[in-house]
Amino acid sequence: MTDLRVLSVASEAYPLIKTGGLADVAGALPLALAHEGIEMGTLLPGYPEVIGAMDKTVALALPESVTRMAGGHGRLLLGAVGGLWLLVLDIPHLYGRPGNPYLAPDGTDWPDNGLRFGVLSRMAAEIAMGCVAPWVPDLVHAHDWQAGLTPAYMAMAPGRHPPSIITIHNLAFAGKMPLTLGETLGLPDWMLGLDGAEFYGDLSLLKAGLRYADAITTVSPSYAAEILTPEWGMGLDGLLRARSHVLHGILNGIDIQAWNPSSDRLLAAAYDAGHVAARATNKASLQAMMALELNPQAPLFGLVSRLSWQKGVDVLMQALPALLECGGQLAVLGNGDAELVAAIRTAAAEHPGRIGCFIGYNEAVAHAVQGGCDALLVPSRFEPCGLTQLYALRYGAIPVVARVGGLADTVIDANVMALNAGVATGVQFAPVTPTALAAAITRTATLYNDKPVWARMQANAMSTDVSWRGPAREYARLYRSLVAA
Ligand code: ADP
Ligand code: GLC
Repeated sequence: MTDLRVLSVASEAYPLIKTGGLADVAGALPLALAHEGIEMGTLLPGYPEVIGAMDKTVALALPESVTRMAGGHGRLLLGAVGGLWLLVLDIPHLYGRPGNPYLAPDGTDWPDNGLRFGVLSRMAAEIAMGCVAPWVPDLVHAHDWQAGLTPAYMAMAPGRHPPSIITIHNLAFAGKMPLTLGETLGLPDWMLGLDGAEFYGDLSLLKAGLRYADAITTVSPSYAAEILTPEWGMGLDGLLRARSHVLHGILNGIDIQAWNPSSDRLLAAAYDAGHVAARATNKASLQAMMALELNPQAPLFGLVSRLSWQKGVDVLMQALPALLECGGQLAVLGNGDAELVAAIRTAAAEHPGRIGCFIGYNEAVAHAVQGGCDALLVPSRFEPCGLTQLYALRYGAIPVVARVGGLADTVIDANVMALNAGVATGVQFAPVTPTALAAAITRTATLYNDKPVWARMQANAMSTDVSWRGPAREYARLYRSLVAA
């Protein structure tokens, strides 16, 4: 029973193409919304990975406005992949580049990213205005800076247009482009001033979205509050404060089928809350994979992360003495900044058997870490939502998190009252400093050595509802209120 159609506009979606949590969300939300009577179609760029996964497609000609802006020809492919209903913008000279969707092989941004994602947004606005009739959306949901111009193009179109929402997954990425690109992107002068999409002398595709969308969401209530402050507003807090009446914080869920320890084929041993002892097999397997000592007693800490300033990996490096001091081991899966990669490799070389790493992006290893580590570290300086702590909860790996953003909202700290009440699911620390993280690691090791307490925390963690059910209901309610307005 579908009574609402929503167009989602994203630059990545699991399982087709993923660089981070945005893909998890864009891939899982449509499936969850189907249970709320909402049919979500997802507009994606036609990367080779996406087109390669589609079969039985229908090809439509592109609207003239899109072809003109793109400066070349293409088509819009309609099709389904694994439960996702997709609209794929196949313009080979813009998107026909395998690998990372945003970066050239040398690690720098593709120089035409402004055009690539401007054209994607233009296509979204054309669909919103009915160019794929009879599939006309009742609402458009744009994600992050890559889809940021969508609400702007919709606002420019003459006549009535459906409501639009933009979701901020990470305010640190403003989609900054030279202001001169505004003309190529067909933006009128009135949109290129301070009251429009101009941002400190540049054009910000994200700011355009925040300015012209009917509603703004971000991925946790705490982050929704943090981004109203100069400290975490990344220069956009003024605009966000002015629009705070349409700003909502809705937590992410996770795909509980893809992340299910009882049926996870990527684990050495599958297990459920009644059989957590089987985690020992996964721990041994992870220790072997990361060249760690095969020691069942050592508290094994895990990290699955982009290696960047946001994620506080440098803070963790400085807290390593405490981790080693309490007999711990560390298994790192990540890739990113070269200095952080080097620091991790050096630490692993200096402490063989105690610190191990897998540098790179690997879905199977991510599951192995979640299923095998005792505690998962998330020392982020800021974290809009964070998904790895949610996977950790589901897998009975105790999350040790910075008290920021979505981490603060999803983990119940093992303070005395929470322990007495039997509700703790993890460990929180603040501020994000080596000293506070070191103390949290030591506290975690103490909890780990208290077997009944630890077992209770694992049971609590594994019974936490981290599914999309609740969040999907909140999105559905918001969509309906905007469509009814
Ligand atoms: P962000 O989107 O800021 O990177 P999230 O916690 O929301 O942070 O999402 C990160 C996602 O990327 C999770 O699904 C996590 O498992 C995955 N991930 C991060 N680094 C790696 C890696 N090196 N290999 C495999 N998966 C990774
Ligand atoms: C961003 C954020 C992360 C969030 C993800 C999905 O990448 O950094 O906190 O979980 O988007 O919303």
